[in-house]
Amino acid sequence: MIDLRELIQKISQAKDKLELQNIKSQFLGKNSQINQEFKKLGSLSEEEKKIKASSLNNEKQKITEAINVRFKELEKLEISKKLQKDKVDVTLPARERPNGKIHPVSQVIDEISSIFSEIGFSVAEGPDVETEYNNFTALNTPEDHPARDMHDTFYLDNDKKILLRTHTSPVQVRAMLNGKPPFKIIVPGRTYRCDSDQTHAPMFHQLEGLHIDKDITMGHLKGCLDYFVKEFFEVKKIKMRFRPSHFPFTEPSAEVDIGYKLENGRIIVGEGDKWLEILGCGMVHPNVLKNAKVDPNKFQGFAFGMGIDRLAMLKYGINDLRSFFESDYRWLNYFGFDPLDVPTNYRGLSR
Ligand code: PHE
Repeated sequence: MIDLRELIQKISQAKDKLELQNIKSQFLGKNSQINQEFKKLGSLSEEEKKIKASSLNNEKQKITEAINVRFKELEKLEISKKLQKDKVDVTLPARERPNGKIHPVSQVIDEISSIFSEIGFSVAEGPDVETEYNNFTALNTPEDHPARDMHDTFYLDNDKKILLRTHTSPVQVRAMLNGKPPFKIIVPGRTYRCDSDQTHAPMFHQLEGLHIDKDITMGHLKGCLDYFVKEFFEVKKIKMRFRPSHFPFTEPSAEVDIGYKLENGRIIVGEGDKWLEILGCGMVHPNVLKNAKVDPNKFQGFAFGMGIDRLAMLKYGINDLRSFFESDYRWLNYFGFDPLDVPTNYRGLSR
C-alpha cells in the first residue's frame, strides 16, 4: 500500500511541473498501484468490492486534489518569477536616439518666409543654372557694365551664355514673364560668385523680394523692410538707414543698414552707433518691367535682395560663414535647430 500522507507531502514539495507530472503518472497512471488495485476489484465479493472501491476512490481523489493544489501553486510561482525577471525600471534614462538638426540657413529661410507670408508675399523659386540674359541683360545690365565683372561670375560655357546665377534677381524676370501683375513674391535660393574668405563663400544664399502693383512706392518698401527687420530680430524698435546706392535693375537704389552695438563681443541688433549692411533694394527699373512684359506706365514697385547667411550669422551669433557649408556634424549639432522646437517668431507650424 502507498503511504498517503507521505505521498501528499511529496506532492506538496514538488519543485516544478515536470516533477509533478512524473508523480502523477507514477501514482495515478496506467501502471500505477491504484490502477492495479482497481483491476483486481472484479475478483472480490460484492461486499469487499464496495469497501475496497470506496477506499481506492477516496485515495485517488485525495492524490488528485493534492496534485491540483500544487499545480496551481507552481503556476503562481512561475508567474511571479517571470514578473520579477521582466520588471521594467521606469526610472532608467531613455536610450539616446541621435536626432537630425535643421541647418541655420534652412531655419532662417523658414523664419523669413513666414514673416513675409504674414503680409501677403508668396514664395517663388528659380533654377541655380541661369541664362546670361535673365541674370544680367533682362535686368538692365549692359554688355560692358562693370557689374558683370563685379559679380565674378561662374560661367558654364565658353560663349558666356549659361552661368550659375550670381543673385536671385533673375527670378524677378521669370516670375513676371510667367504671370500677370500684381506680383508679390519672395525668392529664397542658392547663389554663386567666385569669392571665398571669412565672410564670403563661393555658394551662398539670397532672398529676393518683389512687389509690383499699380501704385507701390518707396514708402511701401520702407514699411515692409521695417516690419521685416523687427520681426526677424524680435525687437520693438530698430535703427535702420537707407543709403543711396546703385543697381542697374532699380532706380532709385539703396542699401539698407541696421544699427547695432557690441556688448562683450556679442552683437546687439537694433541700437548702438555702428551700422551693418543687410540688403540692397530699390524701385524696379522701367526697363526691367519692359523686358519682363509688364507695362511700366501702369505698374511699378520695389525689389530687394538680402543675404540669408549673413542674417543667420547675425541672429544666431555665428562668426565664420565658411563653417556653414563644411558639413561638420558637430557644428550642425551645436548651431542647428531641433525640428520639434518651434521658435517664437516662426508662424509656419504654430498657426
Ligand atoms: N541683386 C542684388 C545683389 O545681389 C540685390 C538687389 C536685389 C538690389 C533687388 C536691388 C533690388 O546685390
